[in-house]
Amino acid sequence: MDELKQDYPWTHSPLVAAAPMRLIALSQLASEVSKAGGLGFVGAGNDVSTLESELEAVRKMQKDSSILSAVEDVLPVGVGFLLWAGEKLLQQSLPLLERYKPAAVWLFAPNHSEQLAQWTKETRRVTQGKSKIWIQIGTVADAVEATKLCQPEVLVVQGSDAGGHGLEKCAGLVTLLPEVEDAISALATEQGSRRPVLIAAGGIMDGRGTAAAITLGASGVVLGTRYLAAPEANIARGYRDAVLGAADGGVTTARGKVYDTLRGTTDWPQAIGGRSVLNASWYDHGRGMSLEENKRLYNDALQKGDEGWGETGRLTTYAGTGVGLVKEIKSAAAITEEVRDGATHVLKRASSKV
Ligand SMILES: Cc1cc2nc3c(=O)[nH]c(=O)nc-3n(C[C@H](O)[C@H](O)[C@H](O)COP(=O)(O)O)c2cc1C
Repeated sequence: MDELKQDYPWTHSPLVAAAPMRLIALSQLASEVSKAGGLGFVGAGNDVSTLESELEAVRKMQKDSSILSAVEDVLPVGVGFLLWAGEKLLQQSLPLLERYKPAAVWLFAPNHSEQLAQWTKETRRVTQGKSKIWIQIGTVADAVEATKLCQPEVLVVQGSDAGGHGLEKCAGLVTLLPEVEDAISALATEQGSRRPVLIAAGGIMDGRGTAAAITLGASGVVLGTRYLAAPEANIARGYRDAVLGAADGGVTTARGKVYDTLRGTTDWPQAIGGRSVLNASWYDHGRGMSLEENKRLYNDALQKGDEGWGETGRLTTYAGTGVGLVKEIKSAAAITEEVRDGATHVLKRASSKV
């Protein structure tokens, strides 16, 4: 925990972070998670048109928080970017990073690895190294390449259970995390360099998942799906209800490109797909419905508001295989504390068994 505690002094161990979910994780969710001793991320994604007002809102909430008001060097949240958006996004983001200096900058989904190197270099330059670099990867090869190119402070290791976008071909955390740890440890020895801290993402819903990730080599965890049930997450009631209603996520969720195609968000790198709760759009696509007809029905469902979601609905419900463990609406602070305390409890219980 030492490095994490040094970089994010208001946090407690094990670190619980909330993922930078585009359009969903805004200033409120991010601030509440940080106030509870975790690290919240604002999901800027591929569009920074509202980022300044979100970061300004975080700054305001920071002043009202006894825990966060003592943080001076950085804004006590992170910001997540989707790198496939290209050079324009970088150039629009740099002045904001320079002004607000978020504690962490999360890089994901580049079109090519040079984008990771460019974002890392420029972010460190404009923030004088104050914003730490987090890179989300899903394979051992990507972990090694990102470490060689960027020496990030943190690698977020994303397993196949993760909700939202991730690699269509990748392993679950049980095998991915230890293999990444071995590979980057070997690299650090070979190069005489520091090893990035590993944070686990994908299917972690509670203290049990967090304890498992710690024993596999992670220093902390990132949760996305679980925070969808926090009132501070910016999602429609119909979406939240669909997440709360789903169970047995290995069967009721899947990763693919159907929803990106229906929504026209097709700029993602080819290797990446979105994991969502399955509904009529997905099943009709599988049965051979034409894209045109499926899009028409999707647009009709948009007019139905909250009724457009659910098992027989059609609207996109990005969420991970852990949906069955999301059972109730809970504040972001309560989720953060429960996950962290739960992990400590499970780790103590487990160690008493050996
Ligand atoms: C609704 C939703 C939206 C997401 N959006 C983003 C995003 O904009 N950028 C990103 O880097 N990751 C995004 N992710 C993926 C998360 O970074 C993380 O890998 C994932 O949530 C972890 O798995 P979990 O959902 O099982 O907790 C999203 C995840 C979800 C569930």
